[in-house]
Amino acid sequence: MSDPLFDLAGRTAVVTGGLGQLGSELARSLVAREMRVALLDIDERPNDDSGIPENMIRTIGCDVTDRAAVVKALERIEADWGTPHLLVNAAGIDAPPDAPASEVGPFEEVPLEALERVLDVNVLGVVVPCQVIGGAMARAGRGSIVNVGSIYGILSPDQSLYDFRRLAGEEFFKPVAYSVSKSALVNLTRYLATYWGRSGVRVNTLTPHGIENGQPSPFVEAFAARSPLGRLMDVSEAVGAVIFLASDASSYVTGANLVVDGGWSAW
Ligand SMILES: NC(=O)c1ccc[n+]([C@@H]2O[C@H](COP(=O)([O-])OP(=O)(O)OC[C@H]3O[C@@H](n4cnc5c(N)ncnc54)[C@H](O)[C@@H]3O)[C@@H](O)[C@H]2O)c1
Repeated sequence: MSDPLFDLAGRTAVVTGGLGQLGSELARSLVAREMRVALLDIDERPNDDSGIPENMIRTIGCDVTDRAAVVKALERIEADWGTPHLLVNAAGIDAPPDAPASEVGPFEEVPLEALERVLDVNVLGVVVPCQVIGGAMARAGRGSIVNVGSIYGILSPDQSLYDFRRLAGEEFFKPVAYSVSKSALVNLTRYLATYWGRSGVRVNTLTPHGIENGQPSPFVEAFAARSPLGRLMDVSEAVGAVIFLASDASSYVTGANLVVDGGWSAW
C-alpha cells in the first residue's frame, strides 16, 4: 500500500543534469514512484533507461543557462504533461580531473575565466530553471524545487583529501569556484522560499557529499578516514531526501538545507 504522505504518482518532475550520475538515479527512482520525468541535459548521449516507456521519461537536450532553451523545454513538457510539480536542479560542473594546472593551482593564480565558467552553470544554470519552471509552478499555485548544492557550499574543502595528488608531485588544490557556486545556492534557495512562500512553491537545498564513483583509492581511503560513517555515499542514498522534499511529507519545509553527508559536517 502506498503511503499518501510520500505519494508522487501522476505528478510531473523535471530533473536538470538528468543524464548525470545523480540525476539519472533520481529520475529512475521518481519514475518507479509513477512520476513522469523530463530530463534536461546539455549532453546529447541517449539515456540508458531502456524499458521505461516514453510517456514516463523523456530527455530534452537543453543548456540550462540558456533561458530561451529552458522556455522551449517547458513548453514541450507542459503540452504533454502539464505544469511540473517538481524541479530538481542537479546540473552542475566542477573542475574536471584533467583541468589545466592553472585551474587547480594556488588560489592567488586561478584564472577568472575558470571561475566564470563554473558560476555560469552552477548558479545561473539554477537561476534560469527556477525563473522559468519555478515561475510556472507559482502561477499554478504549487510545486517543489530542490537545488542540489554540496558540502563544499557550506564548509571549506578539506584539502588533505587531495594529498595523494600532491604526493604524486602535482600542485593541487580543490578550486574555489565550486565552493563559491554551491554556497550561492543555499541563499538562492532561501530567497526563493520566501519569495514564493505564499504561492505554494517550496524551495529547498539538498547538500550531498562524496558520492561513490570509482574515485582513486587514496581518495576513497582519505575520505573514509574523515567520514563519521567511514565511507562514501552510494548514489541511491540521495534518493530518500529528494522523495521527502518532493512529497507532501515535507509540506511545511521550505528554505531548508537537507544535508546528506554521512555526518561529515557533524564534527
Ligand atoms: N558526485 C558527488 O560526489 C557530488 C557531491 C555533492 C554535490 N554534487 C552535485 O550533484 C549534482 C550532480 O552531480 P553528478 O555527480 O551527478 O555529476 P555528473 O557530472 O554525473 O552530472 C552532471 C550533469 O549535468 C549536465 N550539465 C552540465 N552542464 C549543463 C548545462 N549547462 N545544461 C544542462 N546540463 C548540464 C552534464 O551533462 C551531466 O549529465 C551536481 O550539481 C554536483 O555538483 C555531486
